[in-house]
Amino acid sequence: MAQQEDVFKKIVSHCKEYGFVFPSSDIYDGLGAVYDYGQNGVELKNNIKQYWWQSMVLLHENIVGIDAAIFMHPTTWKASGHVDAFNDPLIDNRDSKKRYRADVLIEEQMAKYEDKIQKEIEKAQKRFGDAFDEAQFRATNPRVLENQEKYDNLHKRYQEVMNAEGGIDLEGMKQIILDEGIVCPISGTRNWTDVRQFNLMFKTEMGSTADGASTIYLRPETAQGIFVNYLNVQKTGRMKLPFGIAQIGKAFRNEIVARQFIFRMREFEQMEMQFFIQPGTELDWFAKWKETRMKWHQNLGFGAENYRFHDHDKLAHYANAATDIEFHMPFGFKEVEGIHSRTNFDLSQHAKYSGKKIEYFDPETNESYTPYVIETSIGVDRMFLSIMCHSYEEQLLPDGQIRTVLHLPAALAPVKLAVFPLTKKDGMPEKAQEIINDLRFHFNCKYEEKDQIGKRYRRMDAIGCPYCVTVDQQTLEDNTVTLRDRDTMEQHRVAISELRDIIEDKVSITSLLKKLL
Ligand code: GAP
Repeated sequence: MAQQEDVFKKIVSHCKEYGFVFPSSDIYDGLGAVYDYGQNGVELKNNIKQYWWQSMVLLHENIVGIDAAIFMHPTTWKASGHVDAFNDPLIDNRDSKKRYRADVLIEEQMAKYEDKIQKEIEKAQKRFGDAFDEAQFRATNPRVLENQEKYDNLHKRYQEVMNAEGGIDLEGMKQIILDEGIVCPISGTRNWTDVRQFNLMFKTEMGSTADGASTIYLRPETAQGIFVNYLNVQKTGRMKLPFGIAQIGKAFRNEIVARQFIFRMREFEQMEMQFFIQPGTELDWFAKWKETRMKWHQNLGFGAENYRFHDHDKLAHYANAATDIEFHMPFGFKEVEGIHSRTNFDLSQHAKYSGKKIEYFDPETNESYTPYVIETSIGVDRMFLSIMCHSYEEQLLPDGQIRTVLHLPAALAPVKLAVFPLTKKDGMPEKAQEIINDLRFHFNCKYEEKDQIGKRYRRMDAIGCPYCVTVDQQTLEDNTVTLRDRDTMEQHRVAISELRDIIEDKVSITSLLKKLL
């Protein structure tokens, strides 16, 4: 585990050192859980967004995109339930003055019981080898049974307080924390305040105070921009059900436990698609979208074993089925995308609060109804993090040296081709520039002449550039160059005239999209 934490720390510093991600307002020592993307980060991020956008809008005739404003009419958030229900239960420790999410403290306590059980199982596995029967061990080992009972009791109480009538039972939550003897990790004491609800939306004001400014919110999800535009798009695009609306944009949440670099941020970006369907068909579409979205992730070639679904027991106020796609990060399997069957909750609420009729007339059944919705919602930043984590390698080379390489999928890499003149003379720089001038219209190229070739290769490996070409003496004679592959480090000579054909197909988003069909 400690080793994994070290790897994660290295990835975070690599992101800064190579221009992928910087702390926001770095010269002022940063701003909590807010980050800026640097010269390489923005390219990778744009490529992720393009891969998602094109897979939705180009590959589906019945999905169109929009770009709604971040500011929305404040009633939107009343209707969506965010003003009343988008809360985290918080608790403070009076000694350390630190604030925690009460639900997270309880979930961590449950995880401790699970860890204890797992450790007993691993110990026994080692002792008994092939003869080990896990089911029997779980059913008979006294320590496992004791911890399982503690886990089950806690899980039951937790479910009860989270699903209490009228919302989360805050007193019940505090009682669990006291009964379980949960201590503050900083002060080590149990001197807790009561649990309070804390709304995660950022507020600001529109208009000057003199003429009665109104409170508005920074959107906590992009989805509502789609719901309030449902009628506009359906009518102007003459869309027939089933159809989808896709959007990429910023979202803001005043997260209390903002941790793990860009995993949980206060300003982040979402790629959301709301798929409008006939009521009664939602569970079929939910299953279809689960499959489609998992395929999109696995298409990047990171190995099926690094993904799993986590179906929700506890559903959000709007959902009748929900799952997460989790990715194996260095700090465990973590949610990257949510797929939710949102019923007709949002459209009905907006109809109620706006007084507008939001319905679909189905020409096939001659009926009008409020469509149901399947939502796919993925965080760009979390996707970015999962790609960085999987691609980062410190590779031991046969000569004993270590190279740091990012095995980014070529179609997502910030720079696709680096061109180096072997030396700065004999017309080699000019020849290298000529190659770039020709290829820059097709993919992102970079010119590098500083330092010896080995160092230049290492710099390109560190930003995940899949191909490097070197212009040498022979190039000036026969118009061939050496082409080096990032992953195998193999080099071979190719004609300059062939470069585009060799590289373009491998580095284009189209190559990824074709594999989806
Ligand atoms: N419209 C539904 C919705 O917003 P969500 O599960 O709260 O659902 C969807 O968020 C995705 O947005 C998550 O799977 C995650 O990738 C991303 N996300 C949510 N909160 C985030 C945060 N604080 N920082 C970074 N990404 C976040």
